[in-house]
Parts: sequence; structure tokens; C-alpha cells
Amino acid sequence: MNQLFVDRTEELAFLEEKYKENRAQLIVIYGRRRIGKTELLLKFVKNKNYIYFLCEKTSPQLNILKMARKMAEYLGKKSFARIQFADWEDLFREFLEWKTGDEKVVIILDEFPYLIEIDKGVVSVFQKIWDEYLSKRTDIVLILCGSSIGMMETDVLGYKSPLYGRRTGQWKVTELKLPYIKSFVPSYTFTELLYLYGALGGVPAYLCKLDPKLKVFENIEKLFLRKGAELYEEAENLLRQELREPRNYKLILEALAEGKRRISEIANTTGLDKAAVSRYMDTLELLDIVSYETPVLEKPKTKKRLYYIKDNYFNFWFRYIYPNKDLIEEKRGKIVLEEIIADYNNYMSIVFEKIAKDFVLKISLPIKIHKIGRHWWKTSKGESLEIDLLGFNKNKKEYIIVEVKWSRLKFSDVKRIYKALINKATKLNISGKLYYCIIAKEIENKDSISGAISNVLLFDLKDLEKVYFSQKQL
Ligand SMILES: Nc1ncnc2c1ncn2[C@@H]1O[C@H](COP(=O)(O)OP(=O)(O)O)[C@@H](O)[C@H]1O
Ligand SMILES: [Mg+2]
Repeated sequence: MNQLFVDRTEELAFLEEKYKENRAQLIVIYGRRRIGKTELLLKFVKNKNYIYFLCEKTSPQLNILKMARKMAEYLGKKSFARIQFADWEDLFREFLEWKTGDEKVVIILDEFPYLIEIDKGVVSVFQKIWDEYLSKRTDIVLILCGSSIGMMETDVLGYKSPLYGRRTGQWKVTELKLPYIKSFVPSYTFTELLYLYGALGGVPAYLCKLDPKLKVFENIEKLFLRKGAELYEEAENLLRQELREPRNYKLILEALAEGKRRISEIANTTGLDKAAVSRYMDTLELLDIVSYETPVLEKPKTKKRLYYIKDNYFNFWFRYIYPNKDLIEEKRGKIVLEEIIADYNNYMSIVFEKIAKDFVLKISLPIKIHKIGRHWWKTSKGESLEIDLLGFNKNKKEYIIVEVKWSRLKFSDVKRIYKALINKATKLNISGKLYYCIIAKEIENKDSISGAISNVLLFDLKDLEKVYFSQKQL
């Protein structure tokens, strides 16, 4: 059993703060399956009084019966579990009557969406329980937790939800940040960590499965490239849990992983019509698997969108595993491994862009960045141009123009990229002070280059590593 518990200091501080308040709490915790919600909550309630209940997709009656047993255990009164409760309201009302003293208790309903699935009305019931009983107490911390991001955001937190406006706190649990990944594979170099991050993201359940003695690609082979391997099956299992008919979604995700980023391109590749792709895309967005960028200088409402798979695990899986399932089934995973190794730097260039954006926002720069993102546009002569990262300050008087390169740059490369950046900047319709920046995997003789061209900020993995491991708060 893995005893490692990594990070989550912010989340625990948030929960502790809520716990200390002298009023009833209704806290909503959600986030992708395997992200570490249950682990976090169990860590939080350690050394506290609590009732933990994992909801089941069985029947409301069975859930009530099992919850009653948990409550009885907490109360230390077996007879409580023998009562026939008519419904959830009855159960909670009775529980509060049986509970003596004002000792605070945390009640966790984990995977609350399972209850909603078997009975839509359960949200209204909990609204009533909250309004009439729990909210009037100071000894109850009710935590509703769930992995179905769509259901948590719509049915629990959404403005149409009966519980809307009731929650006293909410937290979306997200991936572990880059530096924390090292805790799972302490001997890995920074570059190896990035490679790994590209395949697994910061999902603790996957990181736990790593063998720290194996190299990156050995771990990838072990976890993905064999029939029955844990992360080989995982992506489809997750989709099946969230979607009734995952087939078309898989086609779309595969197209995205191949680098098709516009609705029209995806429609062409998949053979689905554009309206359908848009609809599927909305659902994938709601599930937090997919997101999109818009040109950073344009109004956010612009129709120009480039979609991408947010989750590194899904991105990796749909790029390398899904298209090669037949080979893996035939026990020819080695061939897939060779393909991955040959292509991996192309894949990493996508992963690295996201990391670079994060990095730029972490370091101190001569410009205070208000907004930053990709920018693409067509010049009046019809030329299509793109800037990896364009950032600007609040009054749009200062800009930073960044090129991101997952490769080793020589002095001549730096000069060429710098020139190209200047050229693009002159074709942008902006005025103000411009800063140029290149973020690369490696820059040969970086310090002497910086001396020679002083107008461009240069960073490579050594700088990233320093920043991430000095602050430890990516
Ligand atoms: N903070 C953490 N540090 C180390 N391992 C973790 C952490 N959070 C989760 N894990 C591992 O990931 C697994 C899945 O986490 P879990 O809490 O069950 O996810 P969720 O409830 O979000 O689906 C756990 O069994 C545990 O092994
Ligand atoms: Mg869980």
C-alpha cells in the first residue's frame, strides 16, 4: 500500500478554515476521477469526528440503510441502524435528534452524483435538509463530493440547482503541480519529469503506479503498452463512466490528439457534421477534458477557436494508445513504444508550451502581465501568422512576445528566432514597449548570447527547474 501523501496544503488549509468557522458548512468538492478527492478528504478528517459514506448507484433505500449504519457507528448506538427511515430527510432529522452535545462532525457524501443518477429529486431533498435542519446548527460540516464534473457544476452548483447559493465553500481539486511529481520518482532529472508529466499529467492515482526504479519509457511501457495494463484501460473506462455513447467522442479526441484543432478540420477528419462536432465539444468541455484558446488580442467572444485536450493523460492516450490498440492487443507493444520514442519530442513541444506559459507567469519580468496567450491572425496581405505567447499589461502599453521551442538552440537559432519575432511584431497592429523572449529546452552558451543580444530574454530548462524547485508552488 502506498503511504505517500503529496502536497494538498492549500486544499487542507481551505478545509480547516471552513471547519473552524462557527456555523454549519455545506462544502462542495469536485474534480476529475483519480485526482485525489477521497484521499484529501480522508486526510482532512483524520483526528476529527466524521462520517464517511461512499454513495452507490443502487437504490435510494439501500443508500439510506447504509448511511444509517455509518451514523449509528458514529453515534455509538446500534439501535439507530434498526430504525426504518422513510427517506433522507427522515434520516438526517432523526440523526440530529440522536446526536448529543455540540461536538462538531464532518459528514462526507462521496460520489454524490451517484445518488442524483438514481434519483434526480435527491438534490431538492438535500436542499430541504440543509435549509430546515443542518444550516441552523453549528456542529455540522456537510461535504458533498463528486467526480462527475458536469453533474457537480450543473446539478449541485449551477443556478438551476435547488442547492444553488447554499454552499458555504467549494473547491475544484486539480492536478498536482509539476514539482510535486518528483516525490513519486525522486531520482528523475527535470527533463525526465517533464517527459513523464506529458504522459500522466499530475494525476496522483497514476503517479502512484510508477516504479521509481524504471526509466520514463520503461514506466510508459509497463503502464500503457500491455493488454490489461492499468493505464491502457483507464481512458476508455473514464469515458464510459461519463458518456452513454462514447464512440463519436473518441473520434473527436483522436482528431484533437493528432493536432486537428478547428471544428471544421475535426468535422472533416471524423466525418461528423460541424454542428454535431460543436455539440460534442461542448460536452467534452463540460467534462473538463477539452478546452479552447482564442487569439489573445481579440475579444473573448470571438468565434476563432482552437480546441485542445487539457488533460495530458488523455492527450497522450489518444495520440499514441488509441490508434495503436490493435498492436497492443496483439502483444506488439514494443512497436508502439518505438513510435512513441521517435515522436515524443513533437508531442513534448505541445506540452512545453503550456508549461512555458505557466513559467512566464511565475517569474518577475520588466512587464506586469495582465493577460497572456497564443495569438494568431491574418495580415492584410493574407499571410497567416502566429505567436506562441503574447502577453500585455493592463493598459496595453507594454507587450511581451514569446517563442517556445522544445529543442536545443545555438546562437544562430536564437538570432533567427529573434529576427522572426521582430518581424511578426511589426505586422501586429500594436504600439507600445515590446519585450522579446525565447523559452527553449536548451540554449547553448546562454549567458554569452544574452550579452550579445540584450533585447531578448532567454530561458531554458535550467531556469525553469530553478524556479519550480525554489518556490515549490507552481
Ligand atoms: N495527495 C496525494 N499524494 C499521494 N497519492 C495520492 C494523493 N491523492 C491521491 N493519491 C493516490 O491516488 C489514488 C486515487 O485518489 P482518490 O482520492 O481515490 O481519487 P478520487 O477520489 O479523486 O477519484 C489514491 O488511492 C492514492 O493512492
Ligand atoms: Mg473518490
